[in-house]
Amino acid sequence: MTVHIGAQPGDIADIVLLPGDPYRAKWAAGTFLTDVRLVNKVRGMLGFTGLWNGKRVTIQGSGMGMPSLSIYVNELIRDYDAKTLIRIGSCGGMQENVGIRDVIIAMTASSVNTPSRTVFRELNFAPCADWQLLQNAVVVAGQKSTKFHVGGIYSSDVFYDERPDLNAEMTRHGILGVEMEAAELYTLAARYGRRALAILTVSDHLGTGAALSSEAREHSFSDMMEIALETAFAA
Ligand code: HPA
Repeated sequence: MTVHIGAQPGDIADIVLLPGDPYRAKWAAGTFLTDVRLVNKVRGMLGFTGLWNGKRVTIQGSGMGMPSLSIYVNELIRDYDAKTLIRIGSCGGMQENVGIRDVIIAMTASSVNTPSRTVFRELNFAPCADWQLLQNAVVVAGQKSTKFHVGGIYSSDVFYDERPDLNAEMTRHGILGVEMEAAELYTLAARYGRRALAILTVSDHLGTGAALSSEAREHSFSDMMEIALETAFAA
């Protein structure tokens, strides 16, 4: 047990999928895994371990924003020795060719700030995905009908932001979408020599104002889950 995760040693698989929403973790475990066990319920941040095609996987909620994700990922790595961490979440589209329901495979994650900012002092660290996972995800996604994009994303600290100029600058520099967790996930994976990737569904679009209905959200989450699971276990 750790401060925020009630799992016993050995309860967490080497491969951990990280949705922001704990109820998504419950839905995904119930839908895609067999032999599912609840391994964490501290603060309602549900985590489940089960089998996918006979292989162990944990699906643990990360909460919203980098400070929350940082707590769970630090404990998953340092206390439970998680080896591969894949964020599965939603993002706001930023480019014209990025549509609602498209999947974004995040090569890099830019930010204004992360919980690791103070570690780097004057340095600007460039958080990036694990190459092998990224390559696996591109191959896996390429075999599906889902439209997908590979490139940089923006990890913001705010959903209700008062600085639309920052989004505009990111858009001008080719950033595909905005979310709130990946930059710190990639930074922690780099620090501890683990593999990390963020796979995101576009749930809304900053330019057009379009947004997914809740039913469509569920379907698109299924596409992303399949990509994430196949990516995690690809040779
Ligand atoms: N901003 C930040 N995070 C998000 C968004 C957004 O527009 N959409 C989904 N996650």
